[in-house]
Amino acid sequence: ETGMITIDPGFKNTGSCESAITFLDGEKGILRYRGYSIEELAEKADFLEVAYLLIFGELPNQEELHKFHNDIKGESHVDEEMKKILDGFPKSAHPMGVLTSLTSALIAFNPSSVNVTSEKEMYWAIVRILAKFPVLVSWTLRKKKGLPLDYGDDTLGYVENIHKMMFKRPNHKYEKNKVVIDALDKLLILHADHEQNCSTSTVRMVGSSHAGLFASLSAGIAALWGPLHGGANQAVLEMLEAIEADGGDTKKYMSKAKDKNDPFRLMGFGHRVYKNFDPRAKIIKKAADEVLGDLGVEDPILDIAKGLEKEALSDKYFVDRKLYPNVDFYSGIIYRALGIPTEMFTVMFALGRLPGWIAQWREMRLKNEPIGRPRQVYIGHASREFVAVDKR
Ligand code: SDX
Repeated sequence: ETGMITIDPGFKNTGSCESAITFLDGEKGILRYRGYSIEELAEKADFLEVAYLLIFGELPNQEELHKFHNDIKGESHVDEEMKKILDGFPKSAHPMGVLTSLTSALIAFNPSSVNVTSEKEMYWAIVRILAKFPVLVSWTLRKKKGLPLDYGDDTLGYVENIHKMMFKRPNHKYEKNKVVIDALDKLLILHADHEQNCSTSTVRMVGSSHAGLFASLSAGIAALWGPLHGGANQAVLEMLEAIEADGGDTKKYMSKAKDKNDPFRLMGFGHRVYKNFDPRAKIIKKAADEVLGDLGVEDPILDIAKGLEKEALSDKYFVDRKLYPNVDFYSGIIYRALGIPTEMFTVMFALGRLPGWIAQWREMRLKNEPIGRPRQVYIGHASREFVAVDKR
């Protein structure tokens, strides 16, 4: 007999592992990657540096960073056959569904990345997916827009190349825009890891069966897609656009959000761990003002978002439940200003979260964690005899 099994829905009070990667303090609104504050990293580091820090545990020196980037550049080829899989999707396919499929399809073209056991094999599987995933992201976007697919330009920085792959037009020179590249870099850093959230726990769970890194990441992308998780950034913009279409009537949506019988939630608000401001939301809100200002974009949606936040923070329902804006509340406003279509927002979240998923998968594998297999409390029928179909 296994003794008392306690059920903990959503694992609200269950620790699944020990980890040295990311530290959150939900009460104080603190977030650190390997001990470095998110505020410092967002200001002073770049995304590839942060990816290295999360995965290998230390900030890289010049030589380490240069080698890491070179190794990634060398692996940025995606087999042309993969385009046939992409061609199989209708233009209406949601990019997150396309990317879960393309990420697992990548396994077939990179067999050496499947049964990795040594650190060296893990390193190359990690380099391959960091190199190829941005290509898949850009192909998914460009396919939807009917643009030619492309591998980008490896003379550029990692994030600059991502932006170029996504937005380069065939008929005019790619405009390098520092404001846009820096905003993208900062957003990717802010999404890079967040300890045992739903999608990361999924990556660890699938990885614990030794299904391989790419399969684990494909599962993580699927989990992130949900509107309660990474899909919230798309849902926030759809909510703000609905409020705008409703003449900016935030009160109506606030009462819907508080109505127990109405499934509508104030998307981009609330968090399982943060019972204070999500530190990422503070940085993104400030960046939204800066980026829209620098780009000369006047977006009434930003004012609606700020109005909604102000109302919610002085509303008893939200204050009592300690519901604050989370990472998804303002991020979509910047993505929109950068010309990223709404249904690609969660893909941008996945692109940012990739290093975190990888770091958590690597930590789990290097520690030889046991396969994840929770117990249950059985509440079904007691034993009963089979009845032939003509007797039922
Ligand atoms: C991310 O885990 C992570 O770290 C995730 C993430 C990451 O970086 O990986 O931070 C990214 O997923 C951010 C969250 C994005 N999701 C949304 O913005 C969707 C809206 N938020 C909610 O669905 C909700 O707040 C969750 C899912 C984020 C958290 O849900 P919990 O912890 O399970 O809390 P709960 O559903 O039990 O809510 C507690 C109470 C309930 O009311 P009561 O039953 O107590 O009366 O607060 C209410 C909820 O109804 N509530 C909300 C609300 N969020 C919670 N009511 C209205 N609007 C909301 N947004």
